[in-house]
Amino acid sequence: MTEARATTGAEQRDSLVEEIARRAGVRAERGRRFADLTSLRVGGSIDWLLLPETEEQAAAVVGALEEAGLAWRVLGAGSNVLADDREHRYVVVSMREVKGEARFDGERVSVSAGFSLPRLCVEAARKGLAGIEGLGGIPGTVGGALWMNAGAYGQEIGQVVETVRVARGGRVVEVPGSEVKWDYRHTSFKEGELLLGCTLKLRSDDPEAIKARMEEAKQKRFSTQPHGARSAGCFFKNPPGSGQSTGKMIDEMGMKGERRGGALVSPVHANFIVTEGEGARAADALALAEEIRERFRREHGVELEYEVELWGADGEFKDERE
Ligand code: EPU
Repeated sequence: MTEARATTGAEQRDSLVEEIARRAGVRAERGRRFADLTSLRVGGSIDWLLLPETEEQAAAVVGALEEAGLAWRVLGAGSNVLADDREHRYVVVSMREVKGEARFDGERVSVSAGFSLPRLCVEAARKGLAGIEGLGGIPGTVGGALWMNAGAYGQEIGQVVETVRVARGGRVVEVPGSEVKWDYRHTSFKEGELLLGCTLKLRSDDPEAIKARMEEAKQKRFSTQPHGARSAGCFFKNPPGSGQSTGKMIDEMGMKGERRGGALVSPVHANFIVTEGEGARAADALALAEEIRERFRREHGVELEYEVELWGADGEFKDERE
């Protein structure tokens, strides 16, 4: 009886999601995995994946999901997410296709959330616009960068945001950048708020000088961070206010190359956890991360804060075998 009711519930939910996607004109896919959609290449199955192509569609779709009381989460390039190995029963709204074109107007550029951040940096440099050249090597979407105030080499995206477009009540609403709190890898945007795009106000400069700074940042990154590996960038934040590098400190603890199953501490930069092989699991990466935190606590008396987002199938990150 309980089982029969549960089946009906799931069927009702499925037809609701289908209907919402159809009405918004948005592609819906089933049977995808976080292992295919995140840069760490691990993580379990996704019940429903919705792929809007415009900011309006994305706003309409999450508005309708909300109205129907259906849980959802938003995924960009998946380059800062570790999702556990279980079956994820909420709706994942992918912003990857909401990319359009970057629209330049004088020192301003308006761009959608799914647009590639590295591509935006290159296009801005070509137009002689400075302010984001240090961010060129961050392999994420503009939306992801806004969400967590991505930064590198002395620049943070929040410093140049004029307005952010956010989904509210099924519509696109413009919020001034000055109303957002832009902290170190953290913003005042709330869970359940969908970022659709933004207008950045950049600064005119000599294109050659911008390109040279971009190249310099790229060289630094190449010599200190792994590239081409399955990673989510830095796994932990640097200890606040200390000016210290967590990576350097983990390195000094002798943990480079430390392994748990298919996950290891990158031999290049110790704040990167990389995964290897077909058998790698999200639980391996988390076990290794927790081991690092434990030793860091013991040796430095500091509680490391995750920089990557941990997505548990039911809110809590779990090993499916437990
Ligand atoms: N270092 C080591 N061993 C290591 C790692 C680093 O000796 O294993 C040394 C480096 O050689 C360098 C110094 O530590 O002399 C600092 O390293 P890095 O320039 O990589 O800076 P970081 O503080 O470790 C931060 C950001 C990076 C960002 C760089 C450059 C955080 C958590 N990390 O790293 O961001 O790219 O500065 O601005 O804030 C990310 O957000 O995912 C990320 C990688």
